[in-house]
Amino acid sequence: MMQDTHQLRCTGCARVVAQADLKENFRCPDCGDLYEVEYPAWSVQAATAAKRNFPNPSALRWLWKERRTSSGLRDLSGVWRFRDLLPILRDEANIVSLREGNTPLYALYRAARATGIASLYGKHQGMNPTGSFKDTGMTAALSVAYERGFSWVACASTGNTSAAMAAYAARAGMRSLVLIPQGKIAWGKLSQAIDYGALTCQLRTDFDGCVRVLGDVVRRAPVYLLNSVNPYRLEGQKTPALEIAEELDWRVPDHLIVPGGNLANSSALGKAFLEMKHLGLTDRVPKISVVQAEGASPLYRSMQASDGRELTPVEAHTRASAIRIGNPASWKKAVRVVHATGGSVEQVSEAEIALAKAEIGAEGIGCEPASAVTLAGLRKFIAAGKIDASETVVLLLTGHTLKDSEYTIRYHRGDLLRDEELTALRAEIDATRRNPVELDADPDQVLRTLEQGAR
Ligand code: F0G
Repeated sequence: MMQDTHQLRCTGCARVVAQADLKENFRCPDCGDLYEVEYPAWSVQAATAAKRNFPNPSALRWLWKERRTSSGLRDLSGVWRFRDLLPILRDEANIVSLREGNTPLYALYRAARATGIASLYGKHQGMNPTGSFKDTGMTAALSVAYERGFSWVACASTGNTSAAMAAYAARAGMRSLVLIPQGKIAWGKLSQAIDYGALTCQLRTDFDGCVRVLGDVVRRAPVYLLNSVNPYRLEGQKTPALEIAEELDWRVPDHLIVPGGNLANSSALGKAFLEMKHLGLTDRVPKISVVQAEGASPLYRSMQASDGRELTPVEAHTRASAIRIGNPASWKKAVRVVHATGGSVEQVSEAEIALAKAEIGAEGIGCEPASAVTLAGLRKFIAAGKIDASETVVLLLTGHTLKDSEYTIRYHRGDLLRDEELTALRAEIDATRRNPVELDADPDQVLRTLEQGAR
């Protein structure tokens, strides 16, 4: 039998299993915790890792850059270009790719001026094939599903995971089952799942309810679970960290700020930076901080109450529907990364999120509401003295602005937020609103409006 390239270690009890022994819900049968992929030759956790087996950092840096000039499918992908750090497949012919990754690291000039942070960047994962960071994880985990011969894949989702899964499944000629909370996901995302041919079930519950139902479904039917409890998703989601380091010439930023929902992404990025340092690709790790919406902030509350030892699920409410999650599956992994990197956890209000989203839009970049929590959070970290002006900060922008255009239109029309939510931010919000003007088909009216606009 062919040797596996990797093994899986339970993040709770440290038990190690092979891929074939993973349960369908990806939880450890002994302690119920989640697994992490480990490569015995060099992983941070691996007991057997001996330095002589480590890949050569200079050779890797050169190879990854060189692959950018190749036209092979594996090299065109910004995930599989780094395949040396995610050897999860037995045969790379099984890669299912839509040329994900290789996303831009934008300098955020206006936000830098407004916050006083000289080096401020947005790593825009919304510039992936289906418009969110989920594509990097999906190419990894769906390729595993394909290699293992599954014909159906499934996820519960606040929208982006389902869009990504549906696209990659279609690409591989596989079927996909999507469970989404009825009426609670943005239209752009729902339309993608349908467009890519998923069997889409809108359940009369919230995201956490969809997760519970799917847990039962995967026990009773041969469908492969693609939620972020699947550890292979996280291997793909490591690659934006590699891209950030590469683009900054292997100088790691001081701080990376990530939105928090189900809390897998912060853990994946943390794993990547810790692995890079372990292998000698970089000489330190950035602080990784997580920002949640006030109405959906179980991690923030957990950190306040018990420094992340216990988490009490909440009933989640926020207009940033992507992160409307009350019982995050990967919270323990996120706590570990925040502690290991010296980061923090914050929560931000609906008005703070909306204003930050408008500011990122005004950069000519834009993002979906859930991504904007990063800029709102940055302001709070500066105010609390946790980030200073000389630091290099990267905001992880997770989704494209077109994912939730209804939110944007309502913000600019002025009917997104209730009066009591606006409070101290009313003037700033009013100054950023750009509602379309309705006019007759008359050049004079347009010229008068132009004059007013120039003032
Ligand atoms: N930003 C966006 C745009 C998201 O779609 C999500 C999660 C997150 C941030 C949070 O990432 O869960 O790893 O902490 N969306 C999932 C979904 C839950 O179903 O699309 P996380």
